[in-house]
Amino acid sequence: MAAGKTYEQLRSARWMLPDDQRSFGHRSRTMQMGYAPEDWQGKPIIAVINTWSDAQPCHMHFRERAEWVKRGILQSGGFPMELPALSLSENFVKPTTMLYRNMLAMETEELLRSHPVDGAVLMGGCDKTTPGLVMGAVSMGIPFIYLPAGPMLRGNYAGKTLGSGTDGFKYWDERRAGTISKEEWQGIEGGIARSYGHCMTMGTASTMTAIAEAMGLTLPGASSIPAADANHQRMSAACGRRIVDMVWEDLTPDRIITRAAVDNSVTVAMATGCSTNAIIHLIAMARRAGVPLELDDLDRIGRTTPVLANIRPSGSTYLMEDFFYAGGLRALMKQLGDKLDSTAITVTGKPLTDGLDQVKIYNDDVIRPLSNPVYHEGSLAVLKGNLCPDGAVIKPAACDPKFHRHCGPALVADNYADMKKIIDDPDYPLTPDTVLVLRNAGPQGGPGMPEWGMIPMPKALLKLGLRDMVRISDARMSGTSFGACVLHVAPESYIGGPLALLRTGDMVELDIPTRSLNMLVSEEEIAARRAAWVAPTRHYERGYGFMFSSHIEQADKGCDFDFLTTEFGGKTPEPAIN
Ligand code: FES
Repeated sequence: MAAGKTYEQLRSARWMLPDDQRSFGHRSRTMQMGYAPEDWQGKPIIAVINTWSDAQPCHMHFRERAEWVKRGILQSGGFPMELPALSLSENFVKPTTMLYRNMLAMETEELLRSHPVDGAVLMGGCDKTTPGLVMGAVSMGIPFIYLPAGPMLRGNYAGKTLGSGTDGFKYWDERRAGTISKEEWQGIEGGIARSYGHCMTMGTASTMTAIAEAMGLTLPGASSIPAADANHQRMSAACGRRIVDMVWEDLTPDRIITRAAVDNSVTVAMATGCSTNAIIHLIAMARRAGVPLELDDLDRIGRTTPVLANIRPSGSTYLMEDFFYAGGLRALMKQLGDKLDSTAITVTGKPLTDGLDQVKIYNDDVIRPLSNPVYHEGSLAVLKGNLCPDGAVIKPAACDPKFHRHCGPALVADNYADMKKIIDDPDYPLTPDTVLVLRNAGPQGGPGMPEWGMIPMPKALLKLGLRDMVRISDARMSGTSFGACVLHVAPESYIGGPLALLRTGDMVELDIPTRSLNMLVSEEEIAARRAAWVAPTRHYERGYGFMFSSHIEQADKGCDFDFLTTEFGGKTPEPAIN
């Protein structure tokens, strides 16, 4: 344990302590807000980074929940300072929140750097908010705790349980197939999201908050508490209390996010049956902390980590509320036993594995033992081949096993609008063996790598009763999606990756057991097509989009901005106060 800090050594003391005119301004303006000197004197100032907004249903409770965080900070002798940040709602932000994850990361880093704060509680949960907040706070380097929003309650319609996203996709296929009525569809619309909180399937939000906990960035058990459960208020206050002590202890993120912590978070992610999006965010978060993480590392850990969380979409029945009642993420960690590295510590200052022997598992059908997994390997597989030299990913647990080995003719669309037309156009060749291919949907091409990877099933096949087929793209897909969807093809087609050279009718071979994805086209023909390929024009000529397309990295590198990674080097100076 490093030596603790004195008040004079805190960042905020540089603003608040000196006997000079600038500090006079800082103090008098704090008093303008109604505070007396004894409210802040000798106390750490704690930022509460709040991603609440009127356009963020998953964080609707954060306005009130921030008050519980502040209560904890005050109880522990700190001074809270709430700072709003981009709320990044998956549902409302277009073209995709992924375009703005790095903007939230930059905002978080600079909010913390530019204000007189010594530590932070980060409030997030909806998909990109977890990696965005964590990436920024890691780069800033002051102590922080992550407070997850918690999953919403189970959905319900006509006595049937509904899962976020997953059932939206499923019943939309039924609607297109003509098997449910407009009234039933509207009933599902009103019943699928019944409370505040993030999606309650094991989608990207639940996966990312689990990763944050396994990386040591939350208090124990925080990620599984449903948003509407009173435990969430208590956890909010506990975060406020603990962060003050972390500042005095100088428990900075570089002491928490070690190689062991990153490997633990990958292991837990695999055991949850995690969202494919988690791969991109995990790589980006680890690289911000200076821990190199490659696709091959994820595949290696995935091969030896069974899926233990029987939560949809990898599982068949249960949702996050059931997961909490069964014991939550701590129970899942207990089931993982010695697969977790006990040298990694958390925001508590103690090992992640501390106290796991006391944890109870209340339902071992929801949180399975290693001897009875939902799926024998981790939920993600990394593919390589002449279609994806830098990698692609698939979620074998969420697709029909008959597609684990598949060879079929490609039907290629150059963009999402074309794809929607082509799949239901009888003039295009289509059989159950067809491999649907969507290109120009990657980080540059999308732009922002939208969640288009679960390409809709063609109506003609739906009417035959089919619900899955092989689909390939350089896009992402929602963590609540399912199907034989190959995603994140790198390098992407928009910058000349091999997907740009594929043509309708070419045979494509997918082999998950050997982790390969290839087009069966000769090298000479591929070279000829490459020579004839013309690069598309860039999407943006100004603004944030221009910066994004100038600096975004490919999916296998985590889609960070090149100038923000630790490999880029450089150091941002502390702001001058006077
Ligand atoms: Fe916010 Fe799914 S929409 S987590």
